[in-house]
Amino acid sequence: MSRARITLDRDFTIGEVPRRLFGSFVEHMGRCVYTGIYEPGHPEADEHGFRQDVLRLVKELGATVVRYPGGNFVSGYNWEDGIGPQESRPRRIDGAWHTIETNAFGLHEFVDWSRKAGVEVMEAINLGTRGVDAARSIVEYANHPGGTELSDLRAKNGHKDPFNIKLWCLGNEMDGPWQIGHKTADEYGRIAQEAAKAMRLVDPGIELVACGSSNSRMPTFGAWEQTVLTHTYDVVDYVSLHAYYQEHNGDAESFLASAVDMDYFIESVVATADAVRAKGKHKKHINLSFDEWNVWYQRGRDTEDQLAQITAAGKWREHPRLIEDNYNVTDAVVVGTLLNSLLRHGDRVKIANQAQLVNVIAPILSEENGPAWRQTIFHPFARMAELATGQILRLSVDSDQYDNARFGSTDLVDVSATWNEETGRLALFLANRGLEDAADVEVALRGFDARQVVRAEVLQVPDGKDRFLTNTESGQNSVGLQALDGVKAEGGELRASLPALSWAVIELDVAKN
Ligand code: AHR
Repeated sequence: MSRARITLDRDFTIGEVPRRLFGSFVEHMGRCVYTGIYEPGHPEADEHGFRQDVLRLVKELGATVVRYPGGNFVSGYNWEDGIGPQESRPRRIDGAWHTIETNAFGLHEFVDWSRKAGVEVMEAINLGTRGVDAARSIVEYANHPGGTELSDLRAKNGHKDPFNIKLWCLGNEMDGPWQIGHKTADEYGRIAQEAAKAMRLVDPGIELVACGSSNSRMPTFGAWEQTVLTHTYDVVDYVSLHAYYQEHNGDAESFLASAVDMDYFIESVVATADAVRAKGKHKKHINLSFDEWNVWYQRGRDTEDQLAQITAAGKWREHPRLIEDNYNVTDAVVVGTLLNSLLRHGDRVKIANQAQLVNVIAPILSEENGPAWRQTIFHPFARMAELATGQILRLSVDSDQYDNARFGSTDLVDVSATWNEETGRLALFLANRGLEDAADVEVALRGFDARQVVRAEVLQVPDGKDRFLTNTESGQNSVGLQALDGVKAEGGELRASLPALSWAVIELDVAKN
């Protein structure tokens, strides 16, 4: 048995929960769009071809904002290919994923789907093969009210009212040698600056995300952010971060500590952005958009290896199965800790998108002409998206530690917490990284009087199973949430015991004390 003592205080808050932290990502990659969210002819498809079974799960997941259409895909994409009558849209080669893109699904379909899903659109533009002109054109097409060629074309294509897309990404992973149209930091910084300027001239109300590093192991990490932000500081609002984690060679201990790396990554980018602010004598702060994160079992990350995987089948196909990872119990616990890291940094991380939404490294799986179901990682995301509202609480955590090869001494218990004054609910999101032992947790609730435990749930290894258990088409609910027994909350004290390798949520009804 390990132990952790957590102290929180009603007056010690980090800021309001940025609801855009619970974002997701739909890329034209593999089966995310085709046979994922869109499958005309499926028994559950509506008149637009949107799968209702998938839509129901997306709503249950609680995603708030969805990035689209890529990813690496966007760096070779012509947005104009995806508008107008479907029968006259071109079939094209997508070099990023060695796929045939039919363009049956494009901007109008995505906006329609987003409205049905109740999510905000986050649109990425192509700064790989295209530039300033295409950037300003898509903003005019999407957001200008009417009376110009492009805005009238939108109306002719079925949407008289502007889409009013607020959030735009200036390209994708432009630091990566694998990216079509890869650029140096100066090349990217300049084109991003000019594209941003031109886009804002069309619609001054938009918010813009500049590309940061593809991950913190990139040789240019740090210097890239510094150069890019030096060029773009005045015209962008956010800088992006991407990170994927996986268990290497059975080292579960290090994998479970992945959030330590996420903390480091976030804090490094904040420091770099603030250094550019100081040097440039700027007033505003640049915030962070962690617009790709997840667990992803990659065999390699270098260009050659990626391309070898993608082109392995040799043929150019429509929506092939790509990176459809099956997530287990350990992965769900790690995802819970990554969400904790994002939430704990909610003063600067204002947007985050789990990559991706359906089939491609996703919380939701679907089969062509078949069912859709929740992966293990669905559960921590859905609960946090539902319950993390109001203020993020600043925590003091005194946890027993464990040693792991990558991060050294790490807390066994990982936690984040929010308090919503309007609803009177306090929510704690806890993970026990211990593979063998349960963790006894005591929480001092300063400034609160706990009246009732409203909800206590846990995701853990089911009896008789192991940590590699996944949800499958034939066992869709093998891993899920169950009641966490024995949680006691009274006055200013909460006690709970977390099973070994588990993720838990505890929601309390509290009064101010
Ligand atoms: O999400 C899968 C891919 O990972 C994205 O296309 C790319 O941006 C990242 O490398």
